[in-house]
Amino acid sequence: MTTKTRGLAAVIALALAVFAGSQQAHAQAESLRIGIIGTGNIGGALARHWVNAGHEVFMSSRNPQELQALADELGPRAHAGTPAEAVEFGEVMLISVPYSAIPQVGAEHAAAMAGKIVLDTSNPVARRDGGIVPMALELGSGVATSQFFPGTRIVRAFNCIPAASLANQPNREPARIAIPLAGDDSEALEVAQRLVDDAGFDGVVVGPLEVARHFDLGQPLAKGDLSADELRALIEEVL
Ligand SMILES: NC(=O)c1ccc[n+]([C@@H]2O[C@H](COP(=O)([O-])OP(=O)(O)OC[C@H]3O[C@@H](n4cnc5c(N)ncnc54)[C@H](OP(=O)(O)O)[C@@H]3O)[C@@H](O)[C@H]2O)c1
Repeated sequence: MTTKTRGLAAVIALALAVFAGSQQAHAQAESLRIGIIGTGNIGGALARHWVNAGHEVFMSSRNPQELQALADELGPRAHAGTPAEAVEFGEVMLISVPYSAIPQVGAEHAAAMAGKIVLDTSNPVARRDGGIVPMALELGSGVATSQFFPGTRIVRAFNCIPAASLANQPNREPARIAIPLAGDDSEALEVAQRLVDDAGFDGVVVGPLEVARHFDLGQPLAKGDLSADELRALIEEVL
């Protein structure tokens, strides 16, 4: 290669790198289509934050007409329908239901969700969720949920922030509230981090799905009001 052609090759390589970088930045900035199963306190608050951040959300209910007023209030980026429609719509899913509903939601929708990123906020709570609770707490709810949603990319998220803080304290000053995350899929964790950030909180990856049990309710990392620095210090202490 002559000096001239080497120079030309370097210029082309640089141009390609700049193009690839701008494509990546563009992909990261693109809005996501998020399907929500369980649009209650948690799902409804997140729908609002994500619409405000520019994403498109499909909120679902077994009685979809009950969500129409919220969809109208949130505007054209918000839609309401059935859980099956939410699954069809969402490239990313949020599951936020009482834990007792997890087996049924999995049986009905996991196949259609195969390959999708699924954020799961659902907590096993003894007084509410009955027979599934001991198994879920023993495995840890991350691993337990993944058994009902084979083939999906589960991330535990938003499970230990109180609903009022989630609704009313996005972008808390002077430090945002931290959301512990756990998952086995690195791309899913990246997308979850972005969605936590877009909702106005700081995602802190604790580790693979197996460690989600450390922030099941009542466990040492289940703190709903720490900053990211405080949560990282606690993780160092606990794990
Ligand atoms: N509240 C909190 O402070 C908080 C904080 C963190 C995590 N969590 C956890 O997050 C989950 C949701 O909490 P939430 O407070 O948002 O509960 P919620 O207000 O009661 O909402 C739960 C939603 O789940 C849906 N649902 C129930 N059974 C279903 C089924 N079989 N199939 C499909 N959808 C079903 C219901 O929708 P339809 O009846 O309209 O279908 C309901 O809107 C729970 O597991 C909770 O423990 C709660």
